[in-house]
Parts: sequence; C-alpha cells; structure tokens
Amino acid sequence: MNPARGRFIVVDGIEGAGKSTQLDTLRARLEAAGLGVVCTREPGGTPLGEELRELLLRPRAGGIAGDTELLLMFAARAEHIAQVIEPALARGDWVLCDRFTDASYAYQGGGRGLGFDRVVQLEEFVQRALRPDLVLLYDLPPETGLARAGRRGAADRFEQEEYEFHARVRLAYINRAAAAPARYRVLDAAAPLAEVSAATLAAIDAFLAEHRPGQGPVTADAAAP
Ligand SMILES: Nc1ncnc2c1ncn2[C@@H]1O[C@H](COP(=O)(O)OP(=O)(O)O)[C@@H](O)[C@H]1O
Ligand SMILES: [Mg+2]
Repeated sequence: MNPARGRFIVVDGIEGAGKSTQLDTLRARLEAAGLGVVCTREPGGTPLGEELRELLLRPRAGGIAGDTELLLMFAARAEHIAQVIEPALARGDWVLCDRFTDASYAYQGGGRGLGFDRVVQLEEFVQRALRPDLVLLYDLPPETGLARAGRRGAADRFEQEEYEFHARVRLAYINRAAAAPARYRVLDAAAPLAEVSAATLAAIDAFLAEHRPGQGPVTADAAAP
C-alpha cells in the first residue's frame, strides 16, 4: 500500500451505543498525533447523501421496501466514497466515519432480514477494493442503547423499530466482527463513558503504533520511499 495514503477508520454499532461521542475522542487523538483527519458519517457525508439520510430516517406510513432501503444506503455511499472518502485517503488524510457498510449488513441484512448476499454484491459493486482498515464496534444491549437514544429527542424510522429488530442488528454486527477479528475491535459500550473512552484510546493507540507511516515498527510499507 502507498505509505502516503490515509487510513479508513469506522465506528459502528446500534443506536445509542456512543459512536458519535467516541468519534470526537478519536478525532482528538489523531489530530494530536499530527494527522489530517476528516470526520464524516453515513448515511450522509455529502449534500446529496444528507438528503438521502433525511429520506431514510424520516418515519413514513407504510415504511420502505427492504431492497429500496438497501439501494438508497448504497447510493449515498457511492456518492460519499467518490466525493469525500477516496479523495481524503488519496491526499493522506485519515477518515473517521460514523457508520459504514457493516451497518448495511446489520440493519438491512440482519434487521430487515434481507440476508447478506445482496449486501456482498453491492459492497463489491460500489466500493471495489475499499474496505475499512479498522472498525470499532460499540456493543451493548439494545434496551440500553435505545434508552440513551430516546433521551436525544424524537425517534427516527430505525429507532422506532421493535426490540427484536435491534437484537437482530446487534447479532449481525457481532457475527461480522467475529468473522474478521483482525479488522474489528469490539468494545463494551454499556460501560461508563470514561471506561469506553479509555478503551477507545487504547484501541486507536495500538492501531497507530502499527500503522502510522514512519512510526512504530518498521514494515515494508513504512520503509518504502
Ligand atoms: N458510555 C456511556 N454511558 C452513558 N451514556 C453514554 C455513554 N456513551 C454515550 N452516552 C450518551 O448516550 C447518548 C447517545 O450517544 P451517541 O454518541 O449519540 O450514540 P450513537 O451515536 O451511537 O447513537 C448521548 O446522550 C451520550 O451522551
Ligand atoms: Mg450518532
């Protein structure tokens, strides 16, 4: 890999897990390490993507067909990759993204019950070789996450789903992480905020030691001119 290319770090997990809170912790740590950081989110991250987000999250009578929901998520993602993520990584910035394709596996594949094959196909079509370098998965019981999210204001279309939906989403996330342990760190998001932040910092520090060009252990990548 080109040593000048940035790294792509994703925070993911169910509603109210603390993703957005920990994204700020991560941003501060990476900036303190002297890295250029782009913070973004899905669905969203571009003007068109934020419009699609609003369409996807707004409660609507009759709901949205599962395949439509999946395609709109990937349409927003295609725009996000083209306009924001790839340009940032190419110029050497690190990208911190609040949710990414694991959420499609978890919410549409698991929660909506679409299965994972369609997600695999769209992932390959839309992302080509792009995959996160690290996914921090914030795991906690849905009742805890939903109670936290509920204090934020009116429930969006996903937050309004029944408990069983969120239990399927959580399980799909956990199975994703278990299948590729090198890429995922599963953090106990039910712990007090200070503990979750400490675990987040430990995870990013370990990743920095391994991946920051010119720092930490010398690898073939880091040694290249
Ligand atoms: N470890 C924690 N313990 C208790 N409350 C938390 C914790 N982490 C975050 N919160 C609070 O829970 C709410 C949801 O957090 P947020 O970061 O918005 O979650 P997410 O982005 O995953 O939906 C916020 O009010 C936040 O302050
Ligand atoms: Mg959030």
